[in-house]
Amino acid sequence: MQSTPFVFGRMAEGENFTDRKQERERLSQNFLSLTNTTIISPRRWGKSSLVKRALEDIVAKDRNIKTCSIDLFNVRNEAEFYEQLVAAIIKATSGKWEEWFAAAKEFVAHLRPQVSFGSDMREEISFDVQWDKAAKKPDELLDLAERVAREKDCQLIVCIDEFQSIGGFRDSLAFQRKLRSHWQNHQHVCYCLYGSKRHMMLEIFANPSLPFYRFGDIMLLGKISNADWGTFIAERFAKTDKSIAIRQAEYLADLVDNHPYYVQQLAQLTWLRTTVECNNMIIDAAMQGLTDQLGLLFFNNVESLTERQLRFLKAVLDGVEHLSSAETLSAYKLGTSANVVRIKKTLQEKEVIDITDGKVEILDPVFKHWLAREYFAQ
Ligand SMILES: Nc1ncnc2c1ncn2[C@@H]1O[C@H](COP(=O)(O)OP(=O)(O)O)[C@@H](O)[C@H]1O
Ligand SMILES: [Mg+2]
Repeated sequence: MQSTPFVFGRMAEGENFTDRKQERERLSQNFLSLTNTTIISPRRWGKSSLVKRALEDIVAKDRNIKTCSIDLFNVRNEAEFYEQLVAAIIKATSGKWEEWFAAAKEFVAHLRPQVSFGSDMREEISFDVQWDKAAKKPDELLDLAERVAREKDCQLIVCIDEFQSIGGFRDSLAFQRKLRSHWQNHQHVCYCLYGSKRHMMLEIFANPSLPFYRFGDIMLLGKISNADWGTFIAERFAKTDKSIAIRQAEYLADLVDNHPYYVQQLAQLTWLRTTVECNNMIIDAAMQGLTDQLGLLFFNNVESLTERQLRFLKAVLDGVEHLSSAETLSAYKLGTSANVVRIKKTLQEKEVIDITDGKVEILDPVFKHWLAREYFAQ
């Protein structure tokens, strides 16, 4: 069976990865010069894909660089954080599992390393961080990356995804202070910390009174431009002996606000419906298919919102600029302007909207489409 030329729901790699030339260059430069970097963008805009690509770029250039990545999505406390970090560092800097074991014994013997075999018969190493002991000596764990890198005479890039999770740890501020004070002394290690919850990430990194202020370069990752999507989609069609005009490909990307994940998904649905040559009708039908497919999910989303929050979203969809003006408050029955402040905050926390330079945007372009065309149209 021929596979489809678009990917979504996993990382964009190889020829599926498009553009981002400047971001790639900047990130690779930061890695090579060991400049700590923070990357912020909403979910599914391409952070993981970008980091992976930049890591590949530099590993190809410099063999003495080792890289490791962890994801804090399901990590709820300091002990789990250390377990992941330590395992990733040891694995990244040693070859075979016998070596991991030796390294683990050398560097963190008291953590009782265990090697197990996963379902694919690949070895996994895990550590049992005995919290009462580790809590007394966190320095050892926090400086592990630097110690190992120095010992092995290499440079180490440590990537941590969904970093904002640490904001929810117990005693988070003290923990952040500890991280910062150790990490800033590392000479052989570069930290790349990224996350999807923009407001939480900015709170951690852009608040002058907090430990991670000025930790490194902050990249606010944008979407991929409409023009780049146009060429990308057209090329992918052409490669599989189907065709789509650049103008139509741009129209396709535009329908989903150039949102990376959705552009790929819509392109895939469109490609599947195209026998030889694509046209706008096919694209519209694919968009309808996508909206229908997600409709059920969107109904659930809506049920978790209050009437007022929904009326606020209606105002955003209607293109209302002054969302807390007396006129808007009464036309959309939003209560007081203090209510609007609260609504904005809640919707931001729920990742329904994003606010940049005071402008409110509904994050999910298909949800937005569905609200306008179906939900509010009834
Ligand atoms: N540079 C890119 N080129 C093409 N598609 C991309 C690119 N970056 C992201 N995507 C698309 O977006 C989806 C989500 O990307 P991902 O890197 O997982 O985002 P994030 O880590 O920000 O949640 C990918 O599965 C892919 O479909
Ligand atoms: Mg990701």
